[in-house]
Amino acid sequence: MFRKFFEQLRWKKLARQLRKPAGAAGIDVAGKMNTANEFLYDFTLDEMMIRENESILEIGFGNGKFFSKQFSRAENLRITGLDFSGVMVRTARKHNKALIKEGNLSLVKGQSDKMPFLSASFDKVFCINVAYFWEDPQEHLLEIYRVLRPGGRLYATIRSRESMNQLPFTRYGFRTYTEEEWKLLCHLNNLLFIRCSSVYEPAFPGPGVITGARSVCLVAEKRSL
Ligand SMILES: C[S@@+](CC[C@H](N)C(=O)[O-])C[C@H]1O[C@@H](n2cnc3c(N)ncnc32)[C@H](O)[C@@H]1O
Repeated sequence: MFRKFFEQLRWKKLARQLRKPAGAAGIDVAGKMNTANEFLYDFTLDEMMIRENESILEIGFGNGKFFSKQFSRAENLRITGLDFSGVMVRTARKHNKALIKEGNLSLVKGQSDKMPFLSASFDKVFCINVAYFWEDPQEHLLEIYRVLRPGGRLYATIRSRESMNQLPFTRYGFRTYTEEEWKLLCHLNNLLFIRCSSVYEPAFPGPGVITGARSVCLVAEKRSL
């Protein structure tokens, strides 16, 4: 009985750290996320087809290890990151000193249902492994709609429900989405559903080695006026 109790406690703690990394344990978890999620960054950036001069927002960048990947996709990009974890913002600023100094990258502390940005600021908004934590997804999608330029696109990548259900910590506060649910949420928030692209990931470390996980990138567009 005690063993089960401590196991559950462990998964709850991990779930809390994944939602909002805090303290030294949060820095450690963020490092592990880099290994587990690099493939999803490459997949999502392929979906985004970034072009020169674009203005891009990443919501929930974790420790910010992959901003250089974004800049390698096209010239003259302006990239903004938003994360509500103070320790992640500080860590990501340390990892990206040069990009910030050059004035091409700005990292801001804040939450995606109340963003400190002007309306119609971004050509593309993306988030990876973040939508699980939206208690009311509509509040976040409404804000994303507001900060996108007309014709701008959202790319939201998450692991599929069947893959997440295999991970013991997802019982504690994770929401998953089917393609039909994404379609409905887009419709309710005035976003045009473009597609859900799906990918099978190579094995990655989690609680053990995770094999056969499927992830999905929702692509949706703010209609042009
Ligand atoms: C599971 S981690 C994912 C990090 C990285 N994107 C990855 O895939 O490795 C979730 C990150 O999003 C941030 N986050 C979660 N919900 C957020 C919200 N509503 N607004 C801003 N940041 C959020 C957390 O602080 C954390 O850094």
